[in-house]
Amino acid sequence: MPSPRTRRATVAGLVATATVLPLSGCGVLGIGGSNADLQIYSARHYDLEGAFKEFQDETGISVEFISGSDAELLQRIKAEGADGEADVFMTVDAGNLWNAAEQGVLKPVESQALTDAVPADLRDSGNQWFGLAMRARTTMYNPDKVKPTDFDATNTYAGLTDPKWKGRLCMRDATSAYTQSLVASLIDLDGREKTLATVKGWVANDVDIKSNDVELLKAIDAGTCDVGITNHYYLARELKKKADLKVKPFWASQQGAGTHVNISGAGVVKTSDNAAQAQQLIEWLATKGQSSFVDGNHEYPVNESVEPEPLIAGFGEFKRMPISAEAYGSQNAEAVKLLAEAGYK
Ligand code: FE2
Repeated sequence: MPSPRTRRATVAGLVATATVLPLSGCGVLGIGGSNADLQIYSARHYDLEGAFKEFQDETGISVEFISGSDAELLQRIKAEGADGEADVFMTVDAGNLWNAAEQGVLKPVESQALTDAVPADLRDSGNQWFGLAMRARTTMYNPDKVKPTDFDATNTYAGLTDPKWKGRLCMRDATSAYTQSLVASLIDLDGREKTLATVKGWVANDVDIKSNDVELLKAIDAGTCDVGITNHYYLARELKKKADLKVKPFWASQQGAGTHVNISGAGVVKTSDNAAQAQQLIEWLATKGQSSFVDGNHEYPVNESVEPEPLIAGFGEFKRMPISAEAYGSQNAEAVKLLAEAGYK
C-alpha cells in the first residue's frame, strides 16, 4: 500500500503529462512516479486521469502509465519478458485486443464480475481481454443538405455507393485503423465480393478523404461534405465547442445488421507480478468506475446497467452490429488489400 504522498505524486504526474499527450501514436512516455502498484501500458489516449484518480483514492492502489502506440507497447512487453513491469495492457480496437491475445502476452482471468458486466461479444471467449468502452462509427450528415430518409436504412455503409451521393461523400483514409476495422467488419458481414463492390462504389462517388474525424465533421458543418462516416464521440466533442454545429448522426443500418461499433479494452499481462490488483482494476473500470472511464471521452458504457452521459444519450438509442474481434483482427490484412484493390486512398 503506497503512502498518501506517493499516491498524490503519481496522480499529479499523470494529470500533468496526460494533458500533453498527442491523440495518436506517440513515443513511449513514463507518467508519474516509479513505485506505483500497477503499471498500465496504454495505447488509449483519451482522458484517463479522472477515472484512475478515483480508483486510486477508493482503493489505495496506485497506478502509473506507460503510453505508446499499440505496436510499440506489445513489442515492449515481449522484449521485457519476465523482467517486465507491465500489469495491464490497454488498447483501442477489438482487432488489436484480439492480436494481443494471439501474441500470447495476456493472462486469462476468471471473473464473474467481468462476465456479468461485459457482453459476450465485447470480451475474449478465453477471458484474456475485456471491452471497457464502446464507440460507434456511423454516418454523419448536414441537415440542410440531407434528410434521414435519404439513407439506405438496411445497409447504410453500402448504400453510400448510390450515385446520388456522388461528390457529396467524405471519409477517412485507408491507413486509419477506423477505416480498416469498418471494412473488415463489412467483409465479415457481406463477404469479400460485395465489400469490394462497396468500396469501389465509394471511390466511384469521388469520396473526399479527410485526415482525421474532426476535420471531416468540420467539413460537413461547413457544407463542403454533405455526408461522412466518423466515430460518434468526435461529434460530441465538437458539439461541446459549438452547440449549433450543423452535423447530425444517422444510425447506420438500423433495419439491417446495425451500426458498426468498436471498443477499447484491457487485459492482465501474463508476466504481471500483481495480477490480483490488475484484475481488480479492470473489474472496477467495467462496473463502479464505468461512467468515469467512458464519460470523459463521450463513449458508450459496455455495461448495459450503466447509462451513457447526457450528450450522447441525446443521439438516441441504436442497434449495434455485434463485434467479431477475430474478424477485425484476422481480416485486417484482407481489408488493407481490398482498399488498395478498390483504389481507395
Ligand atoms: Fe479516436
